[in-house]
Amino acid sequence: MNTDEQDPRQEIENLSDLLRTYQRAYYVDARPLVSDLEYDRLFDRLQELEEAHPHLRLPDSPSQRVGSDLSSEFPEVEHTIPVLSLDKAYASGEVSSWMIKTEAKVSQELSFVVEEKMDGVSIVLYYEKGLLVRAVTRGNGMVGNDVTANLKTIASIPLRLPEEVDVAVRGEVFLPKEEFLELNKRMETPYANPRNLAAGTIRRIKSSEVAKVPLRIYVYEGFWSGDHPFTDHISILSTLASYGFSLNSNIALFCKSRSDALQRLEKASLAGEALSFADFDSYVIKHTGQRSELPYEIDGLVVKVNELSVRETLGYTERHPRWAIAYKFESPQAQTVVENIDVQVGRTGRITPVARVAPVLVGGSTVSNITLHNQPYIDMLELAVGDIVEISKRGDVIPAVERVIEKNEKGNKVWKLPLLCPSCSTPLVIRGAHTFCPNVACPDQVSSRLKFFAGKAQMDIDSFGPETITTLIDLGLLEDVPDIYTLDYEKALSDTPGFGEKKIAAIKAGVEKSKGQSFRRVLVSLGIGEIGKKAADLLVGSGLTSIDDLLEIADKDDVETLTTIKQIGPKSARLLIDGLNDPAMRVRIAQLRKLGLQFEEAEASEAPPLEQSFASQTWCVTGSFVHFNPRTLALEEIEKRGGRTTSSVTGKTTHLLAGSGAGSKLAQATRLGVKIVNEERFLTLLKEEKTNQKSEDVQGEFSF
Ligand code: IVH
Repeated sequence: MNTDEQDPRQEIENLSDLLRTYQRAYYVDARPLVSDLEYDRLFDRLQELEEAHPHLRLPDSPSQRVGSDLSSEFPEVEHTIPVLSLDKAYASGEVSSWMIKTEAKVSQELSFVVEEKMDGVSIVLYYEKGLLVRAVTRGNGMVGNDVTANLKTIASIPLRLPEEVDVAVRGEVFLPKEEFLELNKRMETPYANPRNLAAGTIRRIKSSEVAKVPLRIYVYEGFWSGDHPFTDHISILSTLASYGFSLNSNIALFCKSRSDALQRLEKASLAGEALSFADFDSYVIKHTGQRSELPYEIDGLVVKVNELSVRETLGYTERHPRWAIAYKFESPQAQTVVENIDVQVGRTGRITPVARVAPVLVGGSTVSNITLHNQPYIDMLELAVGDIVEISKRGDVIPAVERVIEKNEKGNKVWKLPLLCPSCSTPLVIRGAHTFCPNVACPDQVSSRLKFFAGKAQMDIDSFGPETITTLIDLGLLEDVPDIYTLDYEKALSDTPGFGEKKIAAIKAGVEKSKGQSFRRVLVSLGIGEIGKKAADLLVGSGLTSIDDLLEIADKDDVETLTTIKQIGPKSARLLIDGLNDPAMRVRIAQLRKLGLQFEEAEASEAPPLEQSFASQTWCVTGSFVHFNPRTLALEEIEKRGGRTTSSVTGKTTHLLAGSGAGSKLAQATRLGVKIVNEERFLTLLKEEKTNQKSEDVQGEFSF
């Protein structure tokens, strides 16, 4: 045994101290004091000691900054301060009159602090005797989720304060714009905005994953319990800064005169602009203009009474402090209330929560149903029934809930998926982010499967629409896809109201005709491993022209043969093989084959697919065109060649087809370095393809 060995307790303390200093220098001051190598050496040693002596680990150990692989739950905890939101104004005039009225109310000259309204995730950090004990999301303002382990990975949150105080600190966790664009490029399902990516990250199960995302926090309020020496907000801000918190330095203090403001800022030793009330309007205009140049997103300004005694006098309404107001830069795209949340069971058993909202007009159409995707998405939004939400139309078509604007007043908690299938009461199972009903015979699942199978883009069975399907299911006549081809429709329907002779004959004809649909259509209609039309074309196009070819691959678990097909990656291959190996699917295939459906591709039964020369490209189309009017004609050409199309220019966009009158999308594309193509060049690209020239572009993975 090494007799020089230090007492582990002492060594842990020394190392923790040293690493804390180094972390601060590195993350907060951006001035490293030691080499990365030296830092890592000390860090590894601390981790080693902590593993050997877990009871000696300090509550504010710097090792927690890298997170852990232990899965964390996010238990609900009660806030010990009311986490209120702000009253809003949409015009700067409204704000100035609020300031005047507030002064009049308290018959006293006031000063106001103006801060940026960070567009991030609202968090409360609770410190007891100077130690960070809990980090909690806003939740419904009374109860939030404990996300302490994840928040500890944010370097600029002090784990221990220099004073042994009990204080609740409110702040906004955010992801700077550039980091968002960079990270989002690599996301399987990209987030709509930095706020949602930050909110999603805070709820990651492993804090070691959170540590990889460069989240930041700006704090803006501190609530001390018990006595404190502060008389104004700027002293609180300055104290928080001295504790090591990150604060947004873009703040201004408005007083009667600039010199007054300057004096006060100096006294509080806080950096900020010193301005007079007369400067207010021009400050708002200037700030609004600068918004897009900021490295992070803000959605307004917050104006707060500086004097704490006045704050106390003014007090609170049920939901807002009377001493602050938010000036929002623009009114939300649309605002509505979530009246209910229903669940739908899809054809694969996937459970999708759907928000039923009070009908509201967005982008030219009325929205009343909005998909909420899955439980993590709802958790990220902290959405409850009764909440007022901001909604948008992503990609101009699919409506999405962007965020909660006001929590419901009934105290409804964040909505949770049921434990049992709403259709068949089978216990639901969680796979990844989604929840599934595992019962293949579940009535809702069967209904979705049948509707999909018979639908226009699949088997396209004439006269066999959703209503007919529902009727047949309700009559207990349709239990699965093969029943479509075995049912005696005359016998089944002749007594059913609404089904006359003609209609029954049309159904029979439609069903019979569908037997002639090509193999590739059958493949898509069965919904094996979520194969879509493009994937089916690729499989058939590469010589896998019968179900037997595919079943053989599945039997051998031969991922490789599939991945040698251009654009089919390992993930898609896995899905396909698993889908083919599902016993219920095997039975369905065998039955349908017997019933005469096409399980082999007849030669040249459909026009051969075009060379996928736009594969792995993502195109956005803007402006107007001579040859592509309407514009959708251009989109079709891109999609036929394997390209993806989107309605906005994002980090993922590779090409912008710009016609005359192209505006903001062109500017955005130029900024992001997206390849810009005009109509003439586009026509050449399409022709090149026709002469079967190979595209030089590297092929990316195609996902079903
Ligand atoms: S003060 C009691 N200051 O805006 C008042 N809020 O609708 C506490 N926010 O939930 C709020 N930046 O998440 C305040 N500089 C700032 C802010 C800010 C962003 C958020 C906060 C709050 C919401 C208000």
